[in-house]
Amino acid sequence: MKSLLLLAMFAGASLFANSGEEVFKVKCAMCHKVVDMKERQAKMQALPPKERKEAMMKFVATLKAPPINKVSARVKHFYPKKADFVAFVKEYITHPNPKKALCMPMALKKFGTMPPIGVSMSKEQKEAVAEWMYDNFHQKWTEMKACAAGKGGMKCGAGKCGGMGKKPAMKCGAGKCGLK
Ligand code: HEC
Repeated sequence: MKSLLLLAMFAGASLFANSGEEVFKVKCAMCHKVVDMKERQAKMQALPPKERKEAMMKFVATLKAPPINKVSARVKHFYPKKADFVAFVKEYITHPNPKKALCMPMALKKFGTMPPIGVSMSKEQKEAVAEWMYDNFHQKWTEMKACAAGKGGMKCGAGKCGGMGKKPAMKCGAGKCGLK
């Protein structure tokens, strides 16, 4: 009876740790927050233009990595199909490399390259978290790209992006912001 109970607990625990959200909480959330971009933009818009930049810088200073919903939108932009998305995330978190990164160079510069957290994870955990990222965040990168702060809420569709940095007018070459 006791062993059965133990077994049940064990099974329960491993199931728990394998759900994408759980994996995220344990392995990723200490760096990647979920940040409601629309809410952030609304907050920024509510400030007088002069204060926006500083408020944004302060906010960014609290982050250790790009928000996970932003990362998800970014990766989805390049890998719209779930299988490709999952494959990219699994591979990147195991072998992070600025050359492979889809993130804005600004993010890499500011935060540095992420640690190879995936080496401490099972294949199932990596898959679960990647699928969770894909399934849970639906905002499009093109929507997010509308830079809020710094430029007074200017939309950045016209080849400009990166409202978070000191130089908001970074060019987005070939769809990859700032890479070229
Ligand atoms: C110690 C902090 C840290 C942890 C933990 C962490 N990351 Fe990251 N992650 C970063 C930073 C910093 C970046 C931006 C620089 C880069 O791309 O490497 C990043 C970028 C990414 C990217 C974008 C890669 C690209 O194309 O640029 C993905 C995807 C990602 N993380 C997924 C994850 C997942 C999934 C987990 C948990 C399993 C995780 N990260 C855990 C810090 C972290």
